[in-house]
Amino acid sequence: MATPPVHHNYVDGAWVPSVSGQTFENRNPANTDDLIGVFQQSNAADVDAAIAAAERAYREWRLVPAPVRAEMLFRAAQMFAARKEAFARDMTREMGKVLNETRGDVQEAIDMTFYMAGEGRRMFGQTVPSELRNKFAMSVRQPLGVSAIITPWNFPMAIPSWKIVPALVCGNTVVFKPSSNTPLSAHNFVEVLIEAGIPKGVVNMVTGDADVGTAMTTDPRVSVVSFTGSTTVGRLVNQAAAPTFKKVHLEMGGKNVVMIMEDANLELAVDGCLWGGFGTSGQRCTAASRVVVHEKVYKPFVEAFVARAKALVVGDGLDPKVEMGPSNSETQLQTVMRYVRIGQDEGATLATGGSRLTTGAYGKGFFHEPTIFVDVDPKMRVAREEIFGPVVSIIPCRSLDEAIAIGNGVEYGLSASIYTQDINRAFQAMRDLYTGIFYVNAPTIGAEVHLPFGGTKHTGNGHREAGVAALEVFSEWKSIYIDFSGRLQRAQIDVEQV
Ligand code: UN1
Repeated sequence: MATPPVHHNYVDGAWVPSVSGQTFENRNPANTDDLIGVFQQSNAADVDAAIAAAERAYREWRLVPAPVRAEMLFRAAQMFAARKEAFARDMTREMGKVLNETRGDVQEAIDMTFYMAGEGRRMFGQTVPSELRNKFAMSVRQPLGVSAIITPWNFPMAIPSWKIVPALVCGNTVVFKPSSNTPLSAHNFVEVLIEAGIPKGVVNMVTGDADVGTAMTTDPRVSVVSFTGSTTVGRLVNQAAAPTFKKVHLEMGGKNVVMIMEDANLELAVDGCLWGGFGTSGQRCTAASRVVVHEKVYKPFVEAFVARAKALVVGDGLDPKVEMGPSNSETQLQTVMRYVRIGQDEGATLATGGSRLTTGAYGKGFFHEPTIFVDVDPKMRVAREEIFGPVVSIIPCRSLDEAIAIGNGVEYGLSASIYTQDINRAFQAMRDLYTGIFYVNAPTIGAEVHLPFGGTKHTGNGHREAGVAALEVFSEWKSIYIDFSGRLQRAQIDVEQV
């Protein structure tokens, strides 16, 4: 057998092994015999070196004009586009989702990089009149310094781009820790940034587990942390960063609802729920894991949805016939299986699926059947907790008001959607669902890069990424007053003389 490639950290402009001397393996979740590569199991000393490099590089990088920083990012976007197919294949192999979806993931990074590069010539502040004569007032965006970027495995290139690219265009430097389940896509991403001309020390990548994250989030030299992952880990990140008062952007769990009203186009709703519930094998924070259906259309919807879910082709995402790939890891699959048992114990009815797939080639991966629970009570755990797998809970309702109450009745608030032909209902639901994202006649997934992305309640901590909102995370305001009167003018005091 050929020896697998060994990949290094990227610190201060060089690919280097971890000082720990430890490594970990990256295997294909569709076939664990397929060893993709070996990566560095880094420790706090590696993080220390990366932060030191980022801190040094910041002194110069913050002074590079934003349009010049942006030119490098434009080049990076073009390179992502040129390598899209190869990056998508690498991503399917290490992460599991089907090729069409990994192509979409790379496309999202391309879109974000072009979009944020455009911000290099905008990054608007405000110029406002002063309350005094011969005085000028404005506000400008300033970078924060070293940013710590911690990303998950479900969008291995899109999510790093949502964070790293705005951090860079604003003039920050970066220490990046990708998920240990998708380090190859992170490697591909960083390689492009280097080739696009991002200078030494400006972007550093350190692979590894929680030790790396803790070292990043507690270091006093880091000014801003951007994290996407579970609510449990997000809380730890927030606590770790609190003593040094870092700016912390958290993007965490979801339990997103699709509401199907009695006047909905049911065919459209079935298509949407299939894509929203089983796309990425349900491993999206935006996944449509709850479907609330009006009792008048409950039966036909359930019949059609279950039939379509049963027919989904599950397998290796590199096979073009396959519609749903594996879970990302054994741990993730175990979580799915645990929740299937929880749902059954709580009295939900399993309409299809419910089991791990183990026969033939399935035996080598982390495959699970598309699973639907029906007649779910909103109080059940399967209706409230994030599963991050191919499990959808269907809940009956009698009215829009009830659907909205169920929709809002969880501790998350990322995304929600309604299927209806009635514009009044659509607008009421849009107004009353307390989420960061809302869709009409579409599932809960499909966010575009130029709008804010994020959620309420335990999904986030008040920030948004993507869109211009990302600039709020990676810059801070400086208000500037220029007095050209040649005398002392006192704000709030000299009001009479003005
Ligand atoms: C995520 O679910 O973790 O809207 C990100 C979507 C994608 C991004 C999802 N564009 O589903």
